[in-house]
Amino acid sequence: MADPKQAAKAGAENEAHIAVHWREEEYVYPPAKFIGQANLTDPAVLERFSEKNFPECYREYADMLDWDEYWHTTLDTSNPQFWKWFVGGKLNVSYNCVDRHLKKYKNKAALIFVPEPEDEPVYALTYQELYTRVNEVAAVLREDCGLKTGDRVTIHMPMILELPITMLACARLGVVHSVVFGGFSGEAAGLRAADSGSHVMVYADGYYRGGKKIDHKASADIAVEMAKKEGQKVDKILVWRRHRGQYMSAKPMIEGRDYFMDDLLKKHLRKKVAPVSLDSEAPLFLMYTSGTTGKPKGCQHRTGGYLAYVTGTSKYYQDIHPEDVYWCMADIGWITGHSYIVYGPLALGGTSVIFEGVPNYPDSGRVWRIAEQLDVNIFHTSPTAIRMLRKTGPDEPQKYNYHFKHMTTVGEPIEPETWRWYYESVGKGEAVIVDTWWQTETGGFLCTTKPGMDPMKAGSAGPPALGIYPAIYDEENKDLKAGSGKAGNICIRNPWPGIMQTIWGDNDRFTRQYYTKYCKNPKSTDWRDWPYFAADGAVLPADGYFRILGRVDDVINVAGHRLGTKELEAACLTVKEVAEAAVVPVVDEIKGRMPVVYMALKPGVSDPQRVEKEVISVIETLIGKIARPKSIHVVSDLPKTRSGKIMRRVLAAISNTMDVGDVTTLANPDIVEEIRKQVQGTGPVQLKEGPEDVKLFGSNE
Ligand code: PRX
Repeated sequence: MADPKQAAKAGAENEAHIAVHWREEEYVYPPAKFIGQANLTDPAVLERFSEKNFPECYREYADMLDWDEYWHTTLDTSNPQFWKWFVGGKLNVSYNCVDRHLKKYKNKAALIFVPEPEDEPVYALTYQELYTRVNEVAAVLREDCGLKTGDRVTIHMPMILELPITMLACARLGVVHSVVFGGFSGEAAGLRAADSGSHVMVYADGYYRGGKKIDHKASADIAVEMAKKEGQKVDKILVWRRHRGQYMSAKPMIEGRDYFMDDLLKKHLRKKVAPVSLDSEAPLFLMYTSGTTGKPKGCQHRTGGYLAYVTGTSKYYQDIHPEDVYWCMADIGWITGHSYIVYGPLALGGTSVIFEGVPNYPDSGRVWRIAEQLDVNIFHTSPTAIRMLRKTGPDEPQKYNYHFKHMTTVGEPIEPETWRWYYESVGKGEAVIVDTWWQTETGGFLCTTKPGMDPMKAGSAGPPALGIYPAIYDEENKDLKAGSGKAGNICIRNPWPGIMQTIWGDNDRFTRQYYTKYCKNPKSTDWRDWPYFAADGAVLPADGYFRILGRVDDVINVAGHRLGTKELEAACLTVKEVAEAAVVPVVDEIKGRMPVVYMALKPGVSDPQRVEKEVISVIETLIGKIARPKSIHVVSDLPKTRSGKIMRRVLAAISNTMDVGDVTTLANPDIVEEIRKQVQGTGPVQLKEGPEDVKLFGSNE
């Protein structure tokens, strides 16, 4: 019989030490025209941000902001890993994103709203108007809702102008906003509202998406119920109307709880609310994301460090100048939208486009029509959107007269072939591309090329961002040096201003999740002993360009959105006929990865198809449509270790037609072949090499 210790060691070898093979891509150099106008071309920047100048290097970002009081200590490490940045400093985010631009740019568009219906006109909101509206909304929050610095508000809204306006109004008062992606269900919003202790939620009545009118207010009623179940009373729902004076929802307004914002605002027209001067370390917002346990965690971001980091990186890596038209097609309900639609671009006095709709409605030319109409010159999107646009309209970009100087890809690894279409067809060979690797937790970019300085390499995020010093460690804490050809866990060796402060209400989980694994000395107050564990696999070739392979924990990246497999499994188990469930990723041509459910039913269930339908419906309700599984397999049992742990890695191998490896040590090895036949059929199958993240899936369980 195999020695379990040996087997476990061999398993770790297979999973964490995988040798990665791929074709090295050629460098592509940034166009001279781009370099000529770029914000960052000075080679001295490398010296300024070198490790010996850390942490003082980050003054350069903080100095891009207006401070009410300048800080006295750049980084305080006395209580690891609760780093403090720009200690003693005071500032206000809404002042920095709005008020300070009035002198030079009051008549310039701050935000441009593109409604999904093409017959509805585009609306450009100037900095002056943004200022007026943020003040009025801040007055509603303070005077009608009694909100004050430190209170939390959950904002569950679609992509309309009122979303960033509400966020900035919160920031003006130091009220901590928690924005929940509009596409999430009312249940998901209610859970998050309860976790953050929000008494007030902000909604929109409805919006347009994919040609449909969505009744969004309906989610509010569900959210309130859900929050109540979790022990949180939501007293007020503020409802923005997509069309002023008309109500888009079929759900009645509940007297004493629901208020139309346009009604409340009438009392506060042109009212001014002084920006509250906040401590650098005051929390600015929470952003919930999926992690390794069933419950989503609220990543808490700070005021000074976060704003400094997104402003600096927006300037140097997004190359935003005030005269540019910048369009990030992400949703503000995700971290990309917070950092690189709202806070970074506005802090720089930029013009940021907000698009309500989906990229391929009414046809695959829509995105390029918008680019032409608004003369967008900086474009930012995800590999999933690029794959989809390529599939549905490979020749569309050429039909429109737009010119990008700069493009971003973010959220998932991009295949070189997709990268090349982005470069050649979307960018018309004129635009530089940055592949930015980062996370909800990290506030801003961690790896990316400097667009005016570094060559690009298709499929690789590139060198670390300024002031970031990553390393790749294996499971035995060995540093896998550049050129080793081995994949390991990418970590950041140092703190940086954009890193989250903690998980809302759960400091222990924060420590456990990100710092315990590679901490060198728990008693140390030296940041060098506290590498940040990112939970991504990566490999580093000799040229220092990081290639990110994907998650090594039980998170599936669906179309650039993080889904926790444990969250999905918990949803499946709410269906009473389901005895056990395991969720694994499967490769999808467009979305990158999709979840697949394997489940065993309780004895005597006569109608498995009905149970499958119910499981799909429950997942969509509890999490959202983005979590809909690609397939569901009802199996007689799930493969398990002798200690009863479900071997998700084996199921992932089956779903992706990969080698299942040695399963002889399992408690029930025969089930593997039974499931394999059920999923792949009984004929011969051609096994695939499979992507690295699927190989790594579950290796950190
Ligand atoms: O696996 C990495 C992947 O997305 C994860 C973070 O997801 P989220 O917190 O939702 O933030 C998405 C937007 C920053 C990472 O752990 N990821 C993000 N960017 C890239 C990426 N994978 C490869 N290349 C990227 N550029």
